[in-house]
Amino acid sequence: MKILAIETSCDETAISVVAASGGFKKPQFKVLSHLISSQVKLHAPYGGVVPSLAKREHSKNLIPLLATALRELRLYKASSVQHPMLDKIPKILSREPELLKQLLELIPTISVPKIDAIAVTYGPGLEPALWVGINFARALSLAWNKPLIPVNHMEGHIYSPLLEPKTYNLFPALALLISGGHTELVLVKDWLKYQVIGQTRDDAVGEAFDKVARLLDLPYPGGPALAKLADKNGKHPMFAKFPRPMIHSGDFDFSFSGLKTAVLYLVKKLGKVDDKTKAAIAREFQDAVIEVLVAKTSKAIEHYNPKTLIIGGGVIANTALREKFDELVAKKYPNVKLLIPDFQLATDNATMIALAAYFHIFKKKPGPKNIVARGTLSLR
Ligand code: KG4
Ligand code: ZN
Repeated sequence: MKILAIETSCDETAISVVAASGGFKKPQFKVLSHLISSQVKLHAPYGGVVPSLAKREHSKNLIPLLATALRELRLYKASSVQHPMLDKIPKILSREPELLKQLLELIPTISVPKIDAIAVTYGPGLEPALWVGINFARALSLAWNKPLIPVNHMEGHIYSPLLEPKTYNLFPALALLISGGHTELVLVKDWLKYQVIGQTRDDAVGEAFDKVARLLDLPYPGGPALAKLADKNGKHPMFAKFPRPMIHSGDFDFSFSGLKTAVLYLVKKLGKVDDKTKAAIAREFQDAVIEVLVAKTSKAIEHYNPKTLIIGGGVIANTALREKFDELVAKKYPNVKLLIPDFQLATDNATMIALAAYFHIFKKKPGPKNIVARGTLSLR
């Protein structure tokens, strides 16, 4: 089965086409197209994502990405097929005039592609951004008469490592989800069955990276820039030992805002921060984050005894963090399989949305019929 997936929850416009087979026993995926149009340059001057700009940029980029994906697949065939439902599309895309115009130009000139379903992220994320993807997906689903599968973005992060499966016997699994908006420990009892056992009480890990990067005047996006600086600095002088928030709290919750405040106080106290000190602060901050994530995850492994540990979300693009988790599992939990996505599937993309959609289709768990953007959608 071929799934076309659309992701617009934040500042990446992404479209993928994935071929899937094997069901739950032996899921196999082949990525036929994996396209991401990043808005980093657009948001950089503001030091963060501006929702209204993100929305407009998604509207501009979706059709060019779709056309590229279909060309890559050789599914882009000129034709003058009748699309009886085309009249209904202006209403669906009434809030996205630019997208509507492009769509009405493209669709009548190409034949209906050989795909089996259209998947789209409907939350969590920025609602104005999510709506663009949802309405686009609704329009395509109607024009081409294909089923529409709404997907929770965090489910995408959970299944992202399954593109290259190392094991098929996954459950119960423990998932650590670390992104710009989320920090969660989730018990995945079976396919599509989740229990959130811990989450952040304030900032998400990625958010903390981004905010601390800003305190250190690093370029946007902050997380990767901070990580780069931290990795440059092998040893750090112990003038600054930041807290390890909630490391011994006895539950599986997190808190990162205190860590950010500790950096703020230190930067204020020092006044001028030279490059060497900056690198030392970055390193100590990263060490503190890693220690907390590793400690809490270890506790959860001991408590729930999972078969696999899944780590998903943009922050697992962090090399030092990946190494620490490799080491942890190898040394302390050799019976637990560690599943971490490829770098290009760690940060936001649509391939992971296609993977999650496949499991929904296979389980016949179709999701809500009237799809509405859900900014704070949680895993259930
Ligand atoms: O999953 P993602 O792409 O988007 C959300 O769903 O939020 O995650 C983005 C987050 C950002 O906060 C970004 O700074 C962080 O992941 N991130 C990193 C690294 N690469 C991306 N944080 C630390 N180290 C990295 N190498
Ligand atoms: Zn994400």
